[in-house]
Amino acid sequence: MPERVDLMAEPDRNLALELVRATEAAAIRAVPFIGKGDKLAADGAAVDAMRAFLATVHFAGVVVIGEGEKDKAPMLFNGEHVGNGDGPQADIAVDPIDGTTMTAQGRQNALSMIAVSDRHTMLDASSVFYMEKLVTDSHGIGVCSLEQSIGDNIRELAKAKRKDVGDMVIAVLDRPRHQELIEEIRAAGAGTRLLLDGDVAGGINAARYETRIDICVGTGGSPEGVVTACAIKALGGFIQGRLAPKDDAERARGEAAGLDLERIYDADGLVSGNNTMFVATGVTDGGLVEGVRRKGPIIRTESIVLRSRSGTLRRIVSDHVAERWL
Ligand code: FBP
Repeated sequence: MPERVDLMAEPDRNLALELVRATEAAAIRAVPFIGKGDKLAADGAAVDAMRAFLATVHFAGVVVIGEGEKDKAPMLFNGEHVGNGDGPQADIAVDPIDGTTMTAQGRQNALSMIAVSDRHTMLDASSVFYMEKLVTDSHGIGVCSLEQSIGDNIRELAKAKRKDVGDMVIAVLDRPRHQELIEEIRAAGAGTRLLLDGDVAGGINAARYETRIDICVGTGGSPEGVVTACAIKALGGFIQGRLAPKDDAERARGEAAGLDLERIYDADGLVSGNNTMFVATGVTDGGLVEGVRRKGPIIRTESIVLRSRSGTLRRIVSDHVAERWL
């Protein structure tokens, strides 16, 4: 349940609104690379822009989920301090572009995103690349579980939502590893929505009341699982994640980092506390937000801002003076 809103709240509650400037900048800077086939160049441009804007934001952030190790990622690496160093301390997860391949190919649904929570509350799952995830809206709480088969999850959730199983829509990343899962979903009588990429947006859509997606399930990036949890807390939905190491070496790295590889992490396990924020700006058009578009002298961006404290979902459409971005 979202807390009652304190209208005399401290200005750090505006942090999420400030962070939108960073995702807007990253999305705008990625535009010249849409459809040009170079995902590293697209990501690089978005990272540079996000970092420059983050430096101006009034907070003392530590990147818990970033672009990787310091030596491999010169900017926004895990452990890097971001913000102007004043104001609230926070954990921050950045994904300057979720959907770098989609951006490079000129496909839909690429987003720039940032998630924030109180300091030392985000799970650092970076040593294990993949996580099995299950996301629904609030009807899934106490009803769905990664311990059940997907068929049972679909049937139980359909009952809780008073829907026919045949009307249930399940989002899954379109990957060979999900072939069996996809067959099980269809055998249960539900329909699939196969995602080319971008299971954060898939998870958010499963938790929003106004979309057709009922469940987002399958194995995707672990960092994306933690980012999704920040958004799901704000939406009051349900999420579970279980780390899925690729091999023994990754299993050993995960254990050495103190991760529990058998544990089913719930929303609190992925990010503890109830002060999460999530902001995302569309790079290319998608079901959640529209992508960046040039309209004569302006560049228009669309973003969403979620805060768990209030449970608010804001949509922000910004018109930027194009000349300043040339
Ligand atoms: P990138 O933009 O970093 O490529 O991530 C896109 C994404 O689809 C994520 O949303 C998802 O969690 C992950 O990749 C899935 O990984 P893979 O493409 O290896 O299946």
